[in-house]
Amino acid sequence: MAQHKGSFEYMKFDDRRKSFGEYVDFLKSKDIPLDNWMEHFTCYIGHMSLSRVLGLYELYKKTLGVSGHIGEIGIYKGASFFLFAKLIKIFESESLTQVHGFDWFQGTGDDDIKMKIEQGGYKQSYDEILEMNEKQGFSNLAFIHKMDVVEELEGFLEENLHLQFKLFFMDAGTHKVVKAALPLIWERMTPGGIVILDQFNHELSPGETLAVREVLPNAKVKIIPNIWMPSGYIIKE
Ligand SMILES: C[S@@+](CC[C@H](N)C(=O)[O-])C[C@H]1O[C@@H](n2cnc3c(N)ncnc32)[C@H](O)[C@@H]1O
Repeated sequence: MAQHKGSFEYMKFDDRRKSFGEYVDFLKSKDIPLDNWMEHFTCYIGHMSLSRVLGLYELYKKTLGVSGHIGEIGIYKGASFFLFAKLIKIFESESLTQVHGFDWFQGTGDDDIKMKIEQGGYKQSYDEILEMNEKQGFSNLAFIHKMDVVEELEGFLEENLHLQFKLFFMDAGTHKVVKAALPLIWERMTPGGIVILDQFNHELSPGETLAVREVLPNAKVKIIPNIWMPSGYIIKE
């Protein structure tokens, strides 16, 4: 039986975990070649992972035509970071739009609000992400900033006074990070731009919701109804 980490939102898809786990075991037993994963990935990927990609794409599309870069706090393995770089390549090849990813590469930090996600989880090697960026030819449009955003984001933004964002993905999950970063990022959002909240209104990282309530108490937080996560976004008016 699956070990429950939560009692509310986490439970919604509990009935899917067993059969999906069996499907993953089946894939592992098949020794599927890399070419297949690369060229036929929609054959294998779970529909919930696919819906996350589609959701980020939909939000990106809403900001096409708004001036500013794309930002992200929490790169991890680069699933959303490299997705954004590829969207720029596909849809904005002649613009100067960039992706700026911020991560300390230490995984989930401790928090002042009790969380149900594991401290130290989501840890990834900075060098590996840098190499992936170079190998895919994104060094001129996707920038990785290794830093603790709680301590260093403010200084970084002060040093780069021109930086403006049209799309910003907050995906570190803790109260400390969202509380420190959201006011700074909000100020740099171009009206019409969108801040995406990965775990708004989710029991596993309640600090994110709490910080949004504190920093932007009147924000109209919306959802894309056909995706589970990100679970909130705010359009700057
Ligand atoms: C859930 S992962 C990001 C997932 C990624 N956006 C994706 O879609 O695959 C959270 C990331 O936030 C980073 N992080 C947590 N606290 C941080 C902090 N104080 N400063 C910078 N990065 C932080 C972690 O190192 C981790 O890589």
